[in-house]
Amino acid sequence: MRLENKKAIVTGGAGGIGRATSIALAAEGAAVAVVDLNVEAAEAVAAEIREAGGTAVAISADVSSEPDIERVIATAVAEFGGVDVVFNNAGIIRRTTAVETTVEEWDRVFGVNVRSIFLMCKHIVPIMEAAGGGSIINTGSGWGLKGGGQAISYCASKGAVVNMTRALAIDHGPAGIRVNSVNPGDVNTGMLREEARQLAQDTNAFLAEAADRPLRRMGEPHEVAQAVVWLASDDSSYVTGSALVVDGGGIA
Ligand code: NAI
Repeated sequence: MRLENKKAIVTGGAGGIGRATSIALAAEGAAVAVVDLNVEAAEAVAAEIREAGGTAVAISADVSSEPDIERVIATAVAEFGGVDVVFNNAGIIRRTTAVETTVEEWDRVFGVNVRSIFLMCKHIVPIMEAAGGGSIINTGSGWGLKGGGQAISYCASKGAVVNMTRALAIDHGPAGIRVNSVNPGDVNTGMLREEARQLAQDTNAFLAEAADRPLRRMGEPHEVAQAVVWLASDDSSYVTGSALVVDGGGIA
């Protein structure tokens, strides 16, 4: 058990990668606060963890809202007695070019993908500092490192996640807080199906294209989850500010 007695918050915990990571963190001994807009699905993940003998609570929140983030942290601290690990993972995508993107859509993507991480760090860092350290993992994307087509707000937001992660690592490393990003390629979750829908493409054809990379398949959520477990645990004790790529070779 690599995370025994650790307390974790996972945002977007009801989705593909968030659910798999909540379960993986709990399997390593962590108590997990499963945070999501979709509270019923978050409750189901927390129940699944408890049924397997773990500790979990579900918390309903919009991660772009400062009052919601403060409530999430207060609830996790009240339930578990502290927070050692945060996985800032909630995210949304809009498959549009700059010309097609409305200002409202741009702001929403940045609110959910970027402001959420700023807000969480603003309020969790003092708690981690007082406790002597912690590990924060932010979900970037292969497209945050290399860009991609028809997703201008998403690519810009994920680039911000990767560089914000480096800046956070510099600022808070002296307090023993490690901050890293995990950058998936195409992973088999609802997001890929949502992209096919937004682009009005056939889902199966879209998923087949996502598998066209050196390892010849999409990633599965549990494969990203294992990278997050490693970054959360002391096994990665000298790793901070890094952008870990989990993409089947798609960046090459
Ligand atoms: P998903 O759509 O299955 O999960 C996203 C979760 O975030 C959902 O449960 C959703 O309800 C929640 N969420 C959305 N807006 C929220 C908000 N304002 N407040 C709280 N929760 C909110 O998608 P997936 O794939 O699991 O995505 C997780 C992260 O991985 C995202 O940041 C995404 O950008 C990133 N990612 C996904 C890739 C993929 O191919 N699936 C590739 C690269 C990055």
